[in-house]
Amino acid sequence: MRQTAELAVIGGSGLYALLDDVRERPVDTPYGSPSDPVMLAEIGGRRIAFLPRHGRDHRYPPHRIPYRANLWALRSLGVRQILAPCAVGGLRPELGPGTFVLPDQLVDRTSGRAQTYYDRGAVHVPFADPYCPVGRRTVRETADAQAVSVRDGGTMVVVEGPRFSTRAESAWYAGMGGSVVNMTGHPEAVLARELALCYTAIALVTDYDAGVQAGEGVTQEDVFKVFAENIATLRDLLLRAIVALPEERDCPCSHSLDGIVLPIELP
Ligand code: ADE
Repeated sequence: MRQTAELAVIGGSGLYALLDDVRERPVDTPYGSPSDPVMLAEIGGRRIAFLPRHGRDHRYPPHRIPYRANLWALRSLGVRQILAPCAVGGLRPELGPGTFVLPDQLVDRTSGRAQTYYDRGAVHVPFADPYCPVGRRTVRETADAQAVSVRDGGTMVVVEGPRFSTRAESAWYAGMGGSVVNMTGHPEAVLARELALCYTAIALVTDYDAGVQAGEGVTQEDVFKVFAENIATLRDLLLRAIVALPEERDCPCSHSLDGIVLPIELP
């Protein structure tokens, strides 16, 4: 098996393994080690990498994930397109537990996370549309073909965590147009863009966030339980979508560094 990959899945809470018959590939980067050794496999003739975002033992909480090392490691293996499943809370009554959402927008409410590779020089990547339109379309079409219901589009609000939001915060996020809320979507998406990688978030709603539901508010137990109930559907969707991604790219993500003089050499 080759030691490189073209496509990757970054697995979230509850998705610590995706592929069978894998080869582990430890990778080091200028930003330290990624969350785990990268797992490599071949599916349908495509070379796939899998990286559990939190580490396979869920060692990294959302605010401590080595995001820069993770994206750098994947690019250094040859990866150019990423599918990124994640658990999210629903901010709207119609986005209940078990719903899949393909966000097309993101609002960053994190603080203090390293969110760029370009600490010197003038590198300002376009980020008006943070997710790859081709990746999103591919996942939507794959889901349609499998009769898996997905919401195409929506705004993902990314909070610092690790606590869940208060009811007032949650109501505010919904009021400003948020659809779902999570803790890991940023800076993962922007770091992918800074490396000219295609990045598609696949959000699985695991709970109603505090502003939507009466009662106790969100618990970690809810999140893990609903994720586990939907893992087989998610795994199937991912494996089918990943081989359906195009071999050649010409989406805006692939051009995000065109014409920019980079102060660092990319892997
Ligand atoms: N991940 C899953 N559910 C969440 C919620 N309600 N808030 C933030 N992150 C989440």
